[in-house]
Amino acid sequence: MTNKVQNSIGVIGAGTMGAGIAQAAAGAGWPVILFDIEQTLVDQAKDSITKRFVRLVEKKRISQEEAAHCQERITTTISMDDLSDCDLIVEAIVEDFDIKTKVLTQVGSIARDAIIATNTSSLSVTDLGEASGIAERVVGMHFFNPAPIMPLVEIIRGEKSSESAIQRATLLAEAWGKTVVQVSDTPGFIVNRVARPYYLESWRIIEDGLATVDQIDDAMQALGEFKMGPFMLTDLIGQDINVATTRSVWQRLGNPSRLAPSAKQESLVERGNLGRKSGCGAYAHDDKDNNVPAVFVEPQELEISENLTNAINNFCLEATCTSGSMLEKYIFARVLGGIMNEAMWATTEHVASSEDIDTAMKMGTNYPQGPLEWAAKIGIEKIHCLLAALNETVADDRFAAPPFGTVSAN
Ligand SMILES: NC(=O)c1ccc[n+]([C@@H]2O[C@H](COP(=O)([O-])OP(=O)(O)OC[C@H]3O[C@@H](n4cnc5c(N)ncnc54)[C@H](O)[C@@H]3O)[C@@H](O)[C@H]2O)c1
Repeated sequence: MTNKVQNSIGVIGAGTMGAGIAQAAAGAGWPVILFDIEQTLVDQAKDSITKRFVRLVEKKRISQEEAAHCQERITTTISMDDLSDCDLIVEAIVEDFDIKTKVLTQVGSIARDAIIATNTSSLSVTDLGEASGIAERVVGMHFFNPAPIMPLVEIIRGEKSSESAIQRATLLAEAWGKTVVQVSDTPGFIVNRVARPYYLESWRIIEDGLATVDQIDDAMQALGEFKMGPFMLTDLIGQDINVATTRSVWQRLGNPSRLAPSAKQESLVERGNLGRKSGCGAYAHDDKDNNVPAVFVEPQELEISENLTNAINNFCLEATCTSGSMLEKYIFARVLGGIMNEAMWATTEHVASSEDIDTAMKMGTNYPQGPLEWAAKIGIEKIHCLLAALNETVADDRFAAPPFGTVSAN
């Protein structure tokens, strides 16, 4: 292993993720060969990496000399043959099954000993491995954007991925300073699945006409200590990207009502209101970072049963140190309850261990606590009471929890 890891790392695709992954590996001392289909694309990527190293020097995070060494470690190519001696090759090209398969097949025959890691967000690692004929050497290595900064890497085990391929990808990511979680090859892996209710349940509160986008964002930040509310965050991610991820995870999981797309969010995207990048999404954004709600709701008064009120109060007593109005507590409990439920379903379906689910949600999306450790603090009975009471208020059974006793929240 030790004599292997200093071989060059290959990165295929010099876009947002490929350039970031190349920077992360080079920054940690590894020689990197960055490949794309056109010279201008690799040149642009090299330029953007250089600028990022310059900024790190300006911020005194690294010395001029270190920055120069990091940049020297990255070479670029438009000839895939140059990747033949790489130990690990990370594929970060367009999210298209046929194109990825073609590239994986090609690189697999050029670099015959290399581990081939795909950075796919939504495709099956097993299917990509099978279709490219090198299933044992293919693993998922899911980085988060921006790759040099985000600490998490989800390592995805395809059905035929060899143990040694998983181990080598894991060791390399750790050597680059990343926190690694092990995930089975399931739709959305951990983060893109367990985070869905943060957005979806928030949109459903809007659809129910119970609160405005800023009320929901404020409640999640104040009571939950989430760094950014769901609407401000989806405006940053791009409402279109967020909708596409929801659709993909929902369809690949067999259309569970819990993860069904929000009609309101989809209509926002159809109107071209994609978030910050289009100037308007859930909020209208201006150059001075003024953000004014752009999804109009005239909230009706919250009317809930005594049973649900009690379940929310019991949940909030343990889940937050901050007091709030009944509406704020309702928003917080409904959204966080949805996240905890998804995390419990994910453990029941053996997506990952509870520890790795918690780690992934803290490192991959900045959650203040892992959903399962949070649930354990509150008490699993109280979570079940909340979910049962919420489930009585909906027609689609989406708050149904995994059978009691099948999940140990931590
Ligand atoms: N952008 C994100 O936030 C993010 C996060 C995690 C994972 N991902 C995944 O990472 C992958 C890349 O995403 P991105 O956002 O960097 O895309 P991007 O569009 O920024 O870059 C893709 C690059 O791949 C290149 N490419 C296309 N076809 C190629 C081929 N046949 N051979 C070599 N290079 C080719 C393109 O020229 C382009 O430079 C996707 O699978 C995506 O799902 C993206």
